[in-house]
Amino acid sequence: MNKPHGFQKRKKKVSDSEVFLAILVNYIQSINLRLTGTKYACGRGGCGACTVMVSKHDPVSRKIRHFSVTACLVPICSLYGAAVTTVEGVGSIKTRLHPVQERIAKSHGTQCRFCTPGMVMSMYTLLRNLPQPSEEQLMGALGGTSDMGKTLHPPEARWEVCLRLPQPTSSQPSSGPPSVVSEVVQTSQSSSTSCAKGGRARNVQIKSEILGGDVDLGYPGQPGPAVSWTLCPSHFHINHSPAQSSTNRHLCLILDLNYVSQDGRHFPEISDRFLSALEDFPATVPQGVQRYQSVDSHQALQDPVGRPIMHLSGLKHATGEAIFCDDIPTVDKELFMALVTSTRAHAKIISVDLSKALELPGVVVDVITAEDIPGTNGAEDDRLLAVDKVLCVGQIVCAVVAETEAQAKRAVEETKIAYEDLEPVIFTIEDAIKHSSFLCPEKKLEQGNVEKAFEEEVDQIVEGEVHVGGQEHFYMETQRVLVIPKTEDKELDIYVSTQDPAHVQKTVSSTLDIPINRITCHVKRVGGGFGGKVGRPAVLGAIAAVGTGYPIRLVLDREDDMLITGGRHPLFGKYKVGFMNSGRIRALDIECFINGGCTLDDSELVTEFLILKMENAYKIHNLRFRGRACMTNLPSNTAFRGFGFPQGTLVTESCITAVAAKCGPSVREKNMYKTVDKTIYKQAFNPEPLIRCWNECLDKSSFHSRRMQVAEFNKKNYWRKRGLAVVPMKFSVGFAATSFHQAAALVHIYTDGSVLVTHGGNELGQGIHTKMLQVASRELKVPTSHMHICETSTATVPNTIATAASIGSDVNGRAVQVLPPVCLSWIEAAFEQRISLSATGYFRGYEAFMDWEKREGDPFPYYVYGAASSEVEVDCLTGAHKKIRTDIVMDACCSLNPAIDIGQIEGSFTQGMGLYTTEELKYSPEGVLYSRGPDDYKIPTITDIPEEFNVSLLPSSQTPLTGLGESGMFLGSSVFFAIADAVATARRERDIAEDFTVRSPEGPGPCSPTCTRPAQPAERCAQCG
Ligand code: FES
Repeated sequence: MNKPHGFQKRKKKVSDSEVFLAILVNYIQSINLRLTGTKYACGRGGCGACTVMVSKHDPVSRKIRHFSVTACLVPICSLYGAAVTTVEGVGSIKTRLHPVQERIAKSHGTQCRFCTPGMVMSMYTLLRNLPQPSEEQLMGALGGTSDMGKTLHPPEARWEVCLRLPQPTSSQPSSGPPSVVSEVVQTSQSSSTSCAKGGRARNVQIKSEILGGDVDLGYPGQPGPAVSWTLCPSHFHINHSPAQSSTNRHLCLILDLNYVSQDGRHFPEISDRFLSALEDFPATVPQGVQRYQSVDSHQALQDPVGRPIMHLSGLKHATGEAIFCDDIPTVDKELFMALVTSTRAHAKIISVDLSKALELPGVVVDVITAEDIPGTNGAEDDRLLAVDKVLCVGQIVCAVVAETEAQAKRAVEETKIAYEDLEPVIFTIEDAIKHSSFLCPEKKLEQGNVEKAFEEEVDQIVEGEVHVGGQEHFYMETQRVLVIPKTEDKELDIYVSTQDPAHVQKTVSSTLDIPINRITCHVKRVGGGFGGKVGRPAVLGAIAAVGTGYPIRLVLDREDDMLITGGRHPLFGKYKVGFMNSGRIRALDIECFINGGCTLDDSELVTEFLILKMENAYKIHNLRFRGRACMTNLPSNTAFRGFGFPQGTLVTESCITAVAAKCGPSVREKNMYKTVDKTIYKQAFNPEPLIRCWNECLDKSSFHSRRMQVAEFNKKNYWRKRGLAVVPMKFSVGFAATSFHQAAALVHIYTDGSVLVTHGGNELGQGIHTKMLQVASRELKVPTSHMHICETSTATVPNTIATAASIGSDVNGRAVQVLPPVCLSWIEAAFEQRISLSATGYFRGYEAFMDWEKREGDPFPYYVYGAASSEVEVDCLTGAHKKIRTDIVMDACCSLNPAIDIGQIEGSFTQGMGLYTTEELKYSPEGVLYSRGPDDYKIPTITDIPEEFNVSLLPSSQTPLTGLGESGMFLGSSVFFAIADAVATARRERDIAEDFTVRSPEGPGPCSPTCTRPAQPAERCAQCG
């Protein structure tokens, strides 16, 4: 049995001052220890990346008890008498691996790895306490809902809330089934003391009663502070609470009222049909099957292409030995940088008072303002550092450089900026439309005669609106950089977490007026990017490094990262669809507006892609798409996995769903592309794989028979409704420009036979380096064990394109593919014969163009096809839902590595599910982002995975290649439409209009479609608040 020895191994004596100042995670990561496996990713106990094991002697049982704790919440002073084990104490590739580490790596359980050691530690702790845990206990450990009560602060923290209701006067309930939550509450009030267990619904609405009581905010087995509460007519209200409790505004409850008598049995008067009101969604262990085609039996055994080999860094992921940017040890004379950001949404800068910051004794080395930039301070309308005015809360005004992170942050607090507010201040798309505030001209595509078709060809017309909320990238590793200025020739070494090092290099060059050839960007690996890591913080670090002459480290904490950087564009769409009674759509007109934030950034491109991709899988002869990017006073929104597709296609699918509600469920098939055809922008394609994916998905998910089972369930349950949905997908891969598809690779063969491969793609956790070595192994005829990729560097492969648009593995793989074969036996001889042992591979790129004047082109190299079916169950009282089953069929053609590709599909589906169901950005009326961490912003976790989750890659596909990084995002909408299906059933049963405005995210919350109350004239309705 391994002994806990994270700290013990180092025998580090900790001084008193360190003890009292340090939070455990900071200390673990400190210079003295340099334990890189424990990661700081949120600082709020919400992500689990910092999980370690704490062991204490229990004097009563005389046994050692082990707890998994999130180290970002634990002061060292609370650990008196305890031992801390970090992932380094569990196993290592240098010594031996713990079985948990080995299994998680070999079962393809890692992607970027930033949180993998946290998962290892949760499981390891469980095994220390329970050597043979059940699957449920394992799930509890990973999901943070340990039923053993041993998790101090689980990775996915859930409140356990006990409501002490007023004492009962009677043990009898009111007669008949409760019709609204209020009646359930009222009934509970008259029963024995009731208890409610915490969940995640936001407000609990009741109609007229006011109840009150106490809430104990503790974890299981660990009582917490008490707050008093009132259930008011419209919301759950906290009357008072401990002063420091920032949890109040985040408090989420599901009133899971125990509608039981004192003897613990259900009230006999309630018929079976209404009993579902009393049931909780039990935590279940997800199951699933992954299907892919094996490589051809004639393929050489040593050829790894197409085989599901483990991520080449998988074992290092599991042991925490995979190094990220911030794991680079402190360099001599290194300084730390922190950013001063605007607190106003639209204002003139009157003055910036740095005097107090600079007076801080001996700590602040410099303050960097726009005046310190020798070259270009960004674009005229998109400044790197604000000049004269600010356009959003979170805009960077200046930066402070100090000896330590704490000192830099203190100096930020002491920097005073005086503002004069400016008008107008615009936050929403609706306000931007009112003020004609746009970032670029309208983009439009049209075919046929839409107006004429509406007038002459259709039996029915339906109009509707769709709202899609924004999304935070929430890469596990926040933005960070280390810039090291060299002593001669203005050379800079930049170690940066970015998906586009060439862009960083170019921007640093223009900002500092230094030739590009003096700047080298290094990317070892990135803890997730999703389109959000282009590298503005790196440029700021470079300005400071050149200004001070010292190395600069900049690490954004989660709050600042979420505040400063924009994310996915929110969308507002209006559609008008005309169709025959048979369900055949004759005319469709969609107009969309996206919220671009305060600067253009990628908003024009996102608008273009949104319009280009919006038709999805449907052939509609009379079709018009229009899109426009709105300028608002929010941080500039930017690229995000899917690049407009997940938002735009939700409008299209909502429209199709509205038609299906009138004409029956076959509407999707009826309107799908079926034969070789041309898109709205006249690009020819063959939809055969689309049809195959669709049919396989219906077949593999037993869609039609389950549709009957769902109807049967819904008949029997009044308060629970199940919904089932299936969506098709045609996703275009790549950029709409040929030059963006070029790629290069470089290979060095050394005289010992080892091979160094480099290429232009960046390892973001998507396994691109593993795939490139698979390709290189086939082409060079050298086993992967002889090959190595050390990093992506602008010095080895110059002028690269961003690793984005799902095309990275494809184009870089093409570059690697042209490398000549090598025979290891003649390397020495080749050297003697003066034959070069280096080679470059270059791919000129796929032809792609789009002529927006003519509204036609071939903007995409190819399409990826897929389909997904999901079934959910919705609690009509709270709006909570559980995902019962999802089946995905994706055309991955000849997958380079099916294990990695299925991981990408599952990951992007889950991120899409988050977009459409739980992830919600909330702002104050002044434009300040409230949701700045996992406790305010709910990204999916392991407990959100469908109970049954099956992924199949389409066998024997003829599609030439596939890029799978982004496409699965949209398939997450199958969960959204399944929820909508359940809600529509509930509304139908209650004689409430089935039409409602589609709003994403669709979780329980204000004005969500899960509301089953009658629609109100105003936006807000009686149930939604
Ligand atoms: S960093 Fe500690 S839980 Fe996220």
